[in-house]
Amino acid sequence: MKSWSNKEQPESGSPQSPAGADDGGAGRERTAGDPAADETSLREMGYAMVDLVVDYMNGLEGRRVYGPLTPLGLDDTFAEELPEEGAPFADLIQDFRTRVFPNTMAIGSKRYFGMMNPAPLPVAVVSEALTAAMNQNTASWRHSPAGTAIEKRVVRWLCDLFGLPETGFGTLTDGGSLANITGLKLAVNQALGRDLSQVDNLEGPGLEMARLTFYVSGQAHYSFDKAVDLLGLGRGQLRKIPHDEIYRIDLQALEESIKADLEAGLKPACVIGIAGTTNTGSIDKLDRMAEIAKRYGCWFHVDAAYGGAVILSEMYRSMLRGIDRADSIAVDPHKWFYMPFSCGGILVRNGDFLKRFRTARRPPKATSAAAGLSRIGAAFTKATK
Ligand SMILES: Cc1ncc(COP(=O)(O)O)c(C=O)c1O
Repeated sequence: MKSWSNKEQPESGSPQSPAGADDGGAGRERTAGDPAADETSLREMGYAMVDLVVDYMNGLEGRRVYGPLTPLGLDDTFAEELPEEGAPFADLIQDFRTRVFPNTMAIGSKRYFGMMNPAPLPVAVVSEALTAAMNQNTASWRHSPAGTAIEKRVVRWLCDLFGLPETGFGTLTDGGSLANITGLKLAVNQALGRDLSQVDNLEGPGLEMARLTFYVSGQAHYSFDKAVDLLGLGRGQLRKIPHDEIYRIDLQALEESIKADLEAGLKPACVIGIAGTTNTGSIDKLDRMAEIAKRYGCWFHVDAAYGGAVILSEMYRSMLRGIDRADSIAVDPHKWFYMPFSCGGILVRNGDFLKRFRTARRPPKATSAAAGLSRIGAAFTKATK
């Protein structure tokens, strides 16, 4: 029998031989997807994988950020038929070394100038295997009891970091885009004064939806364009406000735009502040925006996907002044919190507002101990991170 690694294996039937070696005497090669992984084989596969991960990380030092191949060349490299048979694990390992590693974007190389995709923390890298092994689903408390409690604790820490009150609550999401969409959905709920997602609420939004307007700097991430589209709003309902000389939203233009919409009989629903624009990292004047949002009865959402981690810096956290006045905040631990993809989060000042997002007829209080987490967001099945 062949082993999962290239190392020599004990004779089949010897005391240390993998139980999986008992393969009916067929002497067939073990494949990577074999569901009958015995303990010895599993450990061996895991050790080989750890070696692979460490070799990859070591190989990043000084590496070019991109390999030599163009997109077409890479498509050819991976052009193969759907296999009828599983591949031996050792072959997969080799494949990673020869075909995949040279063609990754080398995040972690000294030649890679950051942007917001981080080289993840080593402990988070190896924890990913554990996440898969436990395969917990925070859709409901029963599917992930410890995971639900841990996620709620992480959300609490994040709320505390950003200065949200005890009523603050939230959920981890796939990323900042989903967090932004969720924030805008809550803004719609507030503006309409009712929760469209409740199953016993059969009344549609009707024309009211068309009157809602949203305000964000022209420097905003395009997840907001997607958000308005996904929420059934027109792109034009998202007002793109000009920026000042350092790419922060122009507050005077913001207020003028809101006033013009009010005069036109529209309903300003949401002011969106950016804490770290994608292109330049500029941070809007959040404290002033909070005042404007309040003055016009708007929801105040802050996209802190990129710059939110500034809150951890004693020297620079004052740049986020006013973020504690947000109704909702999008965060992205898979950016400058150095977590692997994918991990975002939405934090909401009034957590009970978030629970109404769900469609259950009689939802338990979102803040109650046994509430599942992903049912209060857009996703259902959700990994425990
Ligand atoms: C400012 C900002 N907001 C939101 C996002 C979207 O985050 P995600 O890619 O995690 O969906 C990004 C992504 O780069 C971003 O830079």
